[in-house]
Amino acid sequence: MFLLPLKFVFTKHLFRTYLHNVFYELISLETVKMLNIIIMNTKEKNFETKLIHSGAIKDQFGAVVTPIYQTSTFSFENADDGADKFAKRKPGYIYTRIANPTIQDFEDAMADLENGFGGIAVASGMAAVNLVYMGFLKSGDHIVASEAVYGPSRVVLEKFYTQYNIESTFVDTSDLNEIEKAFKPNTKLLYVETPTNPTMVITDLEKAAKIAHDRGIIIAVDNTFSSPYLQKPLDLGCDIVLHSITKFINGHADVVGGVVVTKTKEHFDKLNSLMILTGANMDPHQAYLVRRGLKTLSIRMDRAEKNAMEIAEFLESHPKIEWVSYPGLKSHPQHELAKKQMSGFGALMSFEVKGGLKAGKIIMDNVKVSVLAVSLGGIETLIQHPASMTHAAMGKQDKIEAGITDGLIRLSVGIEDINDLINDLKQALEKV
Ligand SMILES: Cc1ncc(COP(=O)(O)O)c(C=O)c1O
Repeated sequence: MFLLPLKFVFTKHLFRTYLHNVFYELISLETVKMLNIIIMNTKEKNFETKLIHSGAIKDQFGAVVTPIYQTSTFSFENADDGADKFAKRKPGYIYTRIANPTIQDFEDAMADLENGFGGIAVASGMAAVNLVYMGFLKSGDHIVASEAVYGPSRVVLEKFYTQYNIESTFVDTSDLNEIEKAFKPNTKLLYVETPTNPTMVITDLEKAAKIAHDRGIIIAVDNTFSSPYLQKPLDLGCDIVLHSITKFINGHADVVGGVVVTKTKEHFDKLNSLMILTGANMDPHQAYLVRRGLKTLSIRMDRAEKNAMEIAEFLESHPKIEWVSYPGLKSHPQHELAKKQMSGFGALMSFEVKGGLKAGKIIMDNVKVSVLAVSLGGIETLIQHPASMTHAAMGKQDKIEAGITDGLIRLSVGIEDINDLINDLKQALEKV
């Protein structure tokens, strides 16, 4: 009875493993979620194999892809079974806001890819940001964050967390002295975005983690711009990673979602419980689409980065361009740090056309291959104006201090043909 079919391989965390009710005594009683029988143990496998196979579960029909368990609730064998599951004496799915196999496939894959303990999938990137803020900050606490974070990640702190007596300070986190100067006795969280949106400023995560930990401060990183394919903050000593999976993780501009990955069980249990209680959960259909998009992350990013490098070089050498900020260019002030910390430079860049916003608008109004839209990290190239769009809610002075000038244009490079992309920008620049 205890012999398992050979192709069933146990999951990485025994206490999160769901085999059969016969084994349920082996499982930690605190476990809120349980894993299914997974098809392949990817623990020792390489990144691309994890992208394809991590988290996929074995169903009774041998489905190669985890099906969409589009159900809000799960039935119990009998009243005792239900009571045991609620009391966590026995593993098993109860209700989709708490846990669902399709969502869990995605969460486990993300935890595996980020080398973390556990993943928590949520409704949007902003839900992930708020889960981290709410989980680690209470009344009287202080947070230090990168000054050029995604606009709403900053605005929510200034507009709403102040209502709960939570103070925030925004600094250039690429300058470690600035971080140290901003720390106060009540600082509980260092929140870093690197590269920053949209200025492409890079923070040394290993050093930032060290100075935070020396003071007992938790460090969380928004890894949206890089994805675990290019940067693994947990390996660099950070505690928490989060993503707007609306971007590179899903990659197809058809889903909004978020995920948080923790390094420790303690942080996982805390944030997972908060996710359940705040109802921030992802939906099974959303999770299915994102898990499908994730499988091609590395080939999408390789192609987008190749395109981005060529476009950055084209723009930098163009007489009508004032400056280009792309970590892959030697002119980027932190090019060497990017090479050390990231395994690629990504597909995001910002630039300014000579003539500022007026000239920039001509580019945005005349491109025909790049799409004028916010968001990033998809297979299509998107162009936008952060000062009036993604970062519009930030104060004027805050924008200036964060380097989000009126003339700055952000380009998220996709995987179209490079000649079409460059010719498109060329013809738009001719109109300036
Ligand atoms: C870096 C970064 N973090 C978080 C978010 C918020 O994500 P979402 O729009 O999925 O809520 C975004 C959105 O653009 C982002 O760019």
